[in-house]
Amino acid sequence: MSKHYAVLGSPITHSQSPRIHAAFAKQTGIAMDYLAIEANHDDFRAKLDASNLAGANITLPLKEAAFALCRTSSTRALRAGAANTLVREGEHWHGDNTDGVGLVRDLTERHGLDLRQRRVLLLGAGGAARGVAPALLDAGIGALFVVNRNPDRADALADAMGEPGRVHARTWETLPKLGEFDLLLNATSASRGGSLPSLPMALAAPRSAAVDLSYGEAAIPFLAWARAAGCTHAIDGLGMLVEQAAESFLLWHGVRPSTDSIFAQLSGRADALVTAD
Ligand code: ATR
Repeated sequence: MSKHYAVLGSPITHSQSPRIHAAFAKQTGIAMDYLAIEANHDDFRAKLDASNLAGANITLPLKEAAFALCRTSSTRALRAGAANTLVREGEHWHGDNTDGVGLVRDLTERHGLDLRQRRVLLLGAGGAARGVAPALLDAGIGALFVVNRNPDRADALADAMGEPGRVHARTWETLPKLGEFDLLLNATSASRGGSLPSLPMALAAPRSAAVDLSYGEAAIPFLAWARAAGCTHAIDGLGMLVEQAAESFLLWHGVRPSTDSIFAQLSGRADALVTAD
């Protein structure tokens, strides 16, 4: 009998996760179904428990709440203080976070970036930023500057990383003085509300890579800024989405699916691939 999986969050109707996991299931021959379930803080726990799920992906705005309800957690979920993947263990949930490893895999393997010793700017200090910061450090970046509208959250994220020599919290006002970065990441939700605060062009250099953790329309303002500022790479979060999904699939099923075909389909470049699944 096929097991049940789902992604929970809000808004959820445009989530690509059901399509991605259906493609992985077909590719690997694993019988499963995967739904999108609209859930908010009020009804999250009830919907999770009522859905008879063997595993779940958790998206906005529930990743921290998901982490809080887990009986056990992986080290990477602990460091992030947020879970995007839940695995049922009997009556309890085990929490993990595959966002960071998904991002690093997309940047290094799909886009060929070398992250080692890079000077990195992380805009935002919410759940998305917390999810990726530990994996960036593990990937060997040289320095991480965390800049957030609310400076207390930037301080808290930097403190939680426990590497004061490598991780620095800065205020938004200091951005013009921070110099150039090799990698600039937008982990704020500002563009989802339509208004990314203005950023100094001096943050970017021709060799820089800019990454928005969102994809689709939400990624447009930051990536347009990055191109105008002269960044060589302007990368949206679609590749990260596919890679974090593959890591979740691995946790649930013990097999890591290949991601190239579904990435090409979702990015509208399916015809560029010779193989199809
Ligand atoms: P997510 O899970 O997407 O990270 P979150 O935890 O609510 O969601 O965090 C949203 C992030 O976007 C925060 O860093 C937030 O800054 P504050 O901590 O100051 O609220 C940031 N953000 C949201 N709207 C913003 C805006 N208009 N300008 C700058 N930062 C913004």
